[in-house]
Amino acid sequence: MYHYFGASEIYNAIRVFIACYVWMTGFGNFSYYYIKKDFSIARFAQMMWRLNFFVAFCCIVLDNDFMLYYICPMHTLFTLMVYASLGLFNKYNEIPSVMAIKIAGCFLAVILIWEVPGVFEILWAPRSRAF
Ligand SMILES: *[C@@H]1O[C@H](CO)[C@@H](O)[C@H](O)[C@H]1NC(C)=O
Repeated sequence: MYHYFGASEIYNAIRVFIACYVWMTGFGNFSYYYIKKDFSIARFAQMMWRLNFFVAFCCIVLDNDFMLYYICPMHTLFTLMVYASLGLFNKYNEIPSVMAIKIAGCFLAVILIWEVPGVFEILWAPRSRAF
């Protein structure tokens, strides 16, 4: 709605809310995988479907760009990041130094994607044209 009405005076507040929301879902996912250790393909596929089905549908039907619905690719990316970082070598997740390395790896991935010029474009180019 704020985009639709061009309410630019609240954009920064909205960004803070979105950052809080993304942080909470990331923490929720981290806790889920850390405690339940359920890395099953079924649950993962279900979540990917839930996150992306309607966006894909809207992109196809309305001929919109995937990036218009950036919140869904963003959630998909960070869900993949949490899933991958906790899922890979998950039998060592109880070891604090392994977890520290995994978290540092996530920081490095974020730095690589958003701070190294060109990486973000290469990563997202196929998906932004997919629909
Ligand atoms: C994990 O993240 C996804 C996407 O952000 C969200 O839809 C889902 O509710 C989260 N799961 C948990 C257990 O927090």
